[in-house]
This record gives sequence, structure tokens and C-alpha cells, in this order.
Amino acid sequence: MTRQDLRGKRAFIAGIGDDHGFGWAIAKALYEQGAEILIGTWTPIVKIFTTSWSMGKFDESRKLSDGRMMEYKKIYPLDAAFDRPDDVPQDIRENKRYSEMSGYTISEVAAQIQKDFGHIDILVHSLANAPEVTKSLLETSRKGYLSALSASSYSFVSLVSHFGPIMSTGGSALSLTYIASERAIPGYGGGMSSAKAALESDTRTLAWEAGRKWNIRINAISAGPLKSRAAKAIGMIDDMIAYSKANAPLVKDLHAEEVAHAAVFLCSPLASAITGSILFVDNGLHAMGMAVDSLSTAKAHPTANT
Ligand SMILES: NC(=O)c1ccc[n+]([C@@H]2O[C@H](COP(=O)([O-])OP(=O)(O)OC[C@H]3O[C@@H](n4cnc5c(N)ncnc54)[C@H](O)[C@@H]3O)[C@@H](O)[C@H]2O)c1
Repeated sequence: MTRQDLRGKRAFIAGIGDDHGFGWAIAKALYEQGAEILIGTWTPIVKIFTTSWSMGKFDESRKLSDGRMMEYKKIYPLDAAFDRPDDVPQDIRENKRYSEMSGYTISEVAAQIQKDFGHIDILVHSLANAPEVTKSLLETSRKGYLSALSASSYSFVSLVSHFGPIMSTGGSALSLTYIASERAIPGYGGGMSSAKAALESDTRTLAWEAGRKWNIRINAISAGPLKSRAAKAIGMIDDMIAYSKANAPLVKDLHAEEVAHAAVFLCSPLASAITGSILFVDNGLHAMGMAVDSLSTAKAHPTANT
């Protein structure tokens, strides 16, 4: 990609657990442009992530276009469903994957980053979680629905409110959303569609509030389907990808790097007047109002699916 000079900028990317998802690709692209990388990894998988990294499991994916390797400054255990230590229920605190970690609530991570580095310039929220994602909305329990919103939407509000005070003026915060926020996507369940709708609405309100309060920008990328670990949990990601390829204006796979390049743009000074926006990076699928691979379209327009 064309060089965006992000030297001297520091980014905190929340939601990297392996080298397959959008968070990883965004971290790599920001690093490639010169930014310093801090990573927030979900508390129960920190150990496996850091072990895999030190054993060289990610080495191939860490390679940059100029042959260097992506590096990070520090990894912070993070559970974005909790704001303060008092919020963490006893059973989670005592869970063996949590008990050896500390300081993983949002307020503690923000305070630790301030202590370690003073400030950040870029905040990326690349995380979502819905325990009942495979259930339809009608079958989703109140607990499952609220849990999806807590981990996937309020987590962004909380990150912005805790990191806003330590973000440099002109800084940029970004989240990842999905078109199920505004269109019915059968199978994207457990309240995740509602969580993405909240995330997008909050993008606009936070843009206003955080823009006036700290002069930072808030945007979201609405990405097309990618076979990440989180997407596999939905249970139909292959169908979502196949549908996109059959019906989107651009007939090709969506690569995480393409979303990452848009993220670099939104976090760079080139986007200095863009805030409160949802940018589609989905091979154009959002623009379609008719599925060209459906039997009815094939009958009416035999040449539609070329
Ligand atoms: N993959 C897709 O098709 C797709 C499409 C559009 C939007 N998105 C969005 O992109 C973002 C990143 O997802 P991805 O698909 O790259 O998958 P991913 O698995 O790489 O990322 C999701 C991350 O969220 C982390 N996480 C879950 N619960 C957490 C919590 N309570 N606290 C902290 N971290 C937590 C997971 O450990 C994981 O690392 C999500 O917001 C997702 O909804 C994904």
C-alpha cells in the first residue's frame, strides 16, 4: 500500500488472539506504516497466544512486505466485558485461565498503558462475543442477548471512555462491524445483529461526544465475511463467503489485509475530517438489493450471474 507515515504513533489493538482475524491484519498494517503496537488479548487465551508467538507459530504471518517482522511493544490481558475489578464475578476470577492474570479489566488496562507509555494515538476494537450466536434471535435468552451487547458493543463505549483521556488530540478510534446491524442475516444470531446495530449507533454518538471532549475521531468498518476464529463460531461462515462471492459486485475473496488498509487510512491524518462514519469494506455486497444467484433472478435475468 502507499506509505502513510505513522512513525511516532502508538496503537492499542484490542482483540488479537491469533493471526487469522482483522485485529492481527490491522496491527500488521499499522506496524508496517511505522506505528508502535500494543496488543490487548482476551485473558483466557493470552498464554496460548504468547506461547505460539514465542514458538514461531506466527512467524510467516509476521513477515512484512519489506522482509521485516511485525513486533509489538507489550501484550495486555484484557476482558472487555469488565470495566473495573469489582465487576469480575468470583467464578471467573477463580477460573484457572484468569487466576494467574491480573489487571485485565478495561480501566486497569488503560491505567497500565498510561503508566507504561503515557498516551496512545490509535485505538482499535476488534472483538465480539455472543455465547448464543448459533441461536436465532427468537431463541436467544435475555442473558445471552445482554452478554452479546456487553462484550461486543458496550466494550467499545467503555474503551473510548477510559482511553479518551490518554489519547492524543487528533487521535482515532475504530471498531469492526457487520451489515447484520441493518439487514436481516439469517443465522447471525444470539443478539449479535443487535450488538452491531448498537455499535454503529454508538459510533455516531461517540464521534460527537469524544470529538468535542478530546478531539478524537470515531469510525467503524463494516467488513465482509472472513473465516476468522470468531466467524467460525457463527457456524455458517463458508456459506456467508460463498454468498458474497456469488452476489457481490467484486467476485473475489475478501482479504483481512484489505480491511486493514482501510483501517490504516481511517487512523491516519488522511482521514482527519472523517468521524462518525461506517465504511463498508465488503467487495461491494452492501450495495446489492437482489441476490443474483437466486432461482427467481436466474429466471428473470438469465445473464445476471456472469
Ligand atoms: N469475520 C467476519 O466475517 C467479520 C465480519 C464483519 C465484522 N467482523 C468483526 O470483526 C471483529 C474481529 O473479529 P474477527 O472476525 O477478526 O475474529 P477474531 O477471532 O480474530 O477476533 C475476535 C477476538 O475477540 C476476542 N474476544 C472475545 N471476547 C472478548 C472479551 N470479552 N474481551 C476481549 N477480547 C475478547 C477473541 O479472543 C478474539 O481474539 C469483531 O468485532 C467481528 O464481529 C467480523
